[in-house]
Amino acid sequence: MSTSHKRPVTHLLQEYTPPSYLVETVDLCFRLSPTATSVTSSVRYQRHPDCTALAPLHLDGEELELLSLKLDGVALQKGDYRVSPSSLVIAKVPETFVLEMETRINPQGNTALEGLYLSSGNFCTQCEAEGFRKITYYPDRPDVMARFRVRIEAARDLCPVLLSNGNLVEQGSLDAGWHFAQWEDPFRKPAYLFALVAGDLTCVEDHFTTRSGREILLQIYVEHRNRELCDHAMLSLKKAMKWDEEVYGLEYDLDRYMIVAVDDFNMGAMENKGLNVFNSKYVLARPETATDNDFLGIEAVIGHEYFHNYTGNRVTCRDWFQLSLKEGLTVFRDQEFSADLNSAAVKRIDDVRILRQTQFPEDAGPMAHPVRPASYVEINNFYTVTIYNKGAELIRMQQTLLGKEPFNRGVRHYLKKHDGQAVTTDDFVAALEESSGRDLEQFKRWYSQAGTPRVALTTHYDQKNQEYHLLCRQTCPPTPDQTEKQPFFIPLAVGLLDRDGRDLPIIIKGQQGRQTTRILELNQAEQEFVFEQIPEGAALSPLRGFSAPVILDYPQPDEELALRMAHDSDPFNRWEAAQQLARRELLAALERESDDQPVLSELFVASWCRALVDSEADGNLLTQLLTLPSEVYLGEQMTAIDPGRIHRLRQAARCQLAQAGREQLLLRYHAGSGNELYSLDPQQVGMRSLKNFCLSLLMLQEKTSSIELCLRQYEFAGNMTDRLAALSCLVSSSLPQRETVLEDFYQR
Ligand code: PHE
Ligand code: ZN
Repeated sequence: MSTSHKRPVTHLLQEYTPPSYLVETVDLCFRLSPTATSVTSSVRYQRHPDCTALAPLHLDGEELELLSLKLDGVALQKGDYRVSPSSLVIAKVPETFVLEMETRINPQGNTALEGLYLSSGNFCTQCEAEGFRKITYYPDRPDVMARFRVRIEAARDLCPVLLSNGNLVEQGSLDAGWHFAQWEDPFRKPAYLFALVAGDLTCVEDHFTTRSGREILLQIYVEHRNRELCDHAMLSLKKAMKWDEEVYGLEYDLDRYMIVAVDDFNMGAMENKGLNVFNSKYVLARPETATDNDFLGIEAVIGHEYFHNYTGNRVTCRDWFQLSLKEGLTVFRDQEFSADLNSAAVKRIDDVRILRQTQFPEDAGPMAHPVRPASYVEINNFYTVTIYNKGAELIRMQQTLLGKEPFNRGVRHYLKKHDGQAVTTDDFVAALEESSGRDLEQFKRWYSQAGTPRVALTTHYDQKNQEYHLLCRQTCPPTPDQTEKQPFFIPLAVGLLDRDGRDLPIIIKGQQGRQTTRILELNQAEQEFVFEQIPEGAALSPLRGFSAPVILDYPQPDEELALRMAHDSDPFNRWEAAQQLARRELLAALERESDDQPVLSELFVASWCRALVDSEADGNLLTQLLTLPSEVYLGEQMTAIDPGRIHRLRQAARCQLAQAGREQLLLRYHAGSGNELYSLDPQQVGMRSLKNFCLSLLMLQEKTSSIELCLRQYEFAGNMTDRLAALSCLVSSSLPQRETVLEDFYQR
């Protein structure tokens, strides 16, 4: 049987109707066999209070073979129901009843990695979004939440480990070398959070004591050969558990938390209740083979799945149009977690980079869709950067508008109010409104309108009155689904720098307050703000921290960008100013007829050299600040792209910087190459990144002294970050050692 018989159906948000039957409890029993697994289910249904007695029971299925069917203990006759591989309809059912059935499935033949499948010989499930219907006939929709009990039976030699959601309540032996395990999950959940894992895995254990003193068993299940590679994942899990207690007051709610690493997995990981399944690349790591970024990636994904336990599992989505309710909020939470534990500035820069490089193009192309889509055909195609990352930006904007503390209170209120429910993004916003007293009605357009808004700024200084005028105009280009856009509610964080680069207090005409960063609330197509008591020569620092996912149009003078590059107190904007100035100069050079002029101006080179000696800035941020915009990014800014020339000119610019900063580069390189024990402490990560950045510039000139440094670093590196950095310098050089080093790396 194939899935190609499925006719494409368009699902509409507008057509949502509650389920006719709700589920109290689900009892499942799996008898595992690679090609013919038997699944018996016993499900207690109850008619929805708003539903008539005439409503048929409609269950979803996919590629299922039905072996038996009983209603309240009585076998159903052929005429009582209609069954096909993709649905089961029973025309007449009582108000409450128990439906028992047996289905047969073929895990080994399942290559879609949805439902129950085999990964390197281990049984594993993936049910989000609609995979549970490949296991048994069931109302496979997230607004049907039920308590699950799961019994697994399998041959002990094939599957010594038998796992499912929740708590282990019983296990024992059966005939013929088989054994069983009985699991019970006390929390109601939608079927997409169901999970089963069975196979020959080893388990690394640890414990976490919650702040109320409960002891939680933590287990990471991996293939035997990977046993030594779980330390970082375990540490990350404990950090995530602690962070969620401290920041949101959220304590883990089961007695055990299990993570399983599998090689065959479509996505990063899956938040099944109490039993997360991970793509093994987000679990396994050690310093000899993983870079700092790999480690940070693991920490972020472990955090993400853990945070879903509340945002997604305890409070889930009413339907798949609401996917961003759990994903946007959980991405936001994992971003904040990573920011708190590492370099917050660089985390923000990286997240904005993803947004600009992948989400903005999505929003500008044929696939543009709102964070809460109004329709979909295939839900699996909706796990997009718009739902995840733009969704996270929407949450971030609400935090900015409300303030950190009121926002946190709002999230807690949301989780309490809707605990155990399946809700909508409107419910989320309403909870924030209730707890903060703010009106977010217009803000909700961010959820329903696709496209990246553009904000054009015009400034003008009124010397006589010492007033700084800022005119803001917002527009949003049409997207395939919507031609007309209503104005967005945009929180625009701004600062003003005086001539020496110090922050000025901002007094807005007609408003209270004199903070140095103010949140302007743009809610019309055009608006003017007047700042009072501003001395002449002030420079605007707009969109601090990238306070809204918009494209800014503000041609700021070079000198102001240079000033901000040196002094902007907002680290994101300091980086942004450096990037803008560099981009401007590189693009100008690319426009010129000939290449014999230096690419970068004296102004830029001098500002860059000054940043290089900034001993206060964190190494992570400095590396970002000193790095020129990428070739890909430059190419995107041009109509006619000549990749060879872009590469040549960018290299020429880097050489210019390497020459001007040579001595300082050497100093900073040596300052960063102590031989402490490897750790992921943000300061050490920052030192490494700055050191390796310096090395890459030093190596441009291919002086013997730099080459020696680089070869030495390659050979004696105690971690992958340093070794890989040295390797990539050598590989992109024209040195004869290239080949030998590459061969050596391969051998390692
Ligand atoms: N819900 C998962 C996450 O974001 C992603 C996922 C979706 C995994 C669908 C598998 C299938 O954490
Ligand atoms: Zn997620």
